[in-house]
Amino acid sequence: MRVRTSKLLEMKQAGEPIVCVTAYDYTMAQLVDEAGIPVVLVGDSLGNVVLGYDSTLPVTLDDIIHHTRAVVRGAKNALIVADMPFMTYNVSVEDALRNAGRLLQEGGAQAVKLEGGAFVAETVRRLTENGIPVMGHLGLTPQSVHQLGGYRVQGRTAGQARRLLDDALAIEDAGAFAIVLETVPGNVAQAVTGRLTVPTIGIGAGPGCDGQIQVVHDILGLGMRQPRHARRYAELNAVTLDALRAYKDEVSARRFPTADHTTEADAAVVAELPGADG
Ligand code: KIV
Repeated sequence: MRVRTSKLLEMKQAGEPIVCVTAYDYTMAQLVDEAGIPVVLVGDSLGNVVLGYDSTLPVTLDDIIHHTRAVVRGAKNALIVADMPFMTYNVSVEDALRNAGRLLQEGGAQAVKLEGGAFVAETVRRLTENGIPVMGHLGLTPQSVHQLGGYRVQGRTAGQARRLLDDALAIEDAGAFAIVLETVPGNVAQAVTGRLTVPTIGIGAGPGCDGQIQVVHDILGLGMRQPRHARRYAELNAVTLDALRAYKDEVSARRFPTADHTTEADAAVVAELPGADG
């Protein structure tokens, strides 16, 4: 049975770490599900690791819907959270409702994630009142990269840490079922986690959060990113390159395909082809 948002609160209360990872396609979603990971985010990091943009800003709602549909087909047990792209929830609450609704109705997600603190609390409230579970996202919010002046640690000063806590409390009060804390000092993330009822999901925020999330490419060693907050559990670049080079060499040397990979018709079929006896 599919994981529900309420399960995350139960896990926090039981002190059980909440494992989350991103996925963007059917095959990866199947593997993530088979590994027993309970929460999958179709993140707008899609823009960086799948679509080749240098930020998440160009990702559209239709991009996320398209990839969410694939992930939902692949992962039958995990809770699927779909990211709300830049400017799909910022213009008006009505806009946010319509767009989040599409992520559930057309994408098949069970929840949405959006970035921001107190200033999006009213949006979070209206979404949750309308039956759309919301995961918050605070700290380094990549959709605000130009405003933040780069991908920097957030919450280092007393003032920033206080604002982070206030934002987290505002989002929790508005009904969010969990909050991502990205690139926040570990001791600040731990303190915020201790003051919230809902779980925090950290990325680059230390071990004191209730759960962790990583971009799947970063933990598999797939692609050129090497963020400090990620550990590589595999080296898929190397494995993939070796396989592609071996394939290229075998085709070039006519060692692939062989009879094992080929179906033959009766020789008579070929013999009857025009020009066969010529
Ligand atoms: O888009 C994404 O992958 C995210 C995670 C880094 C939390 O928002």
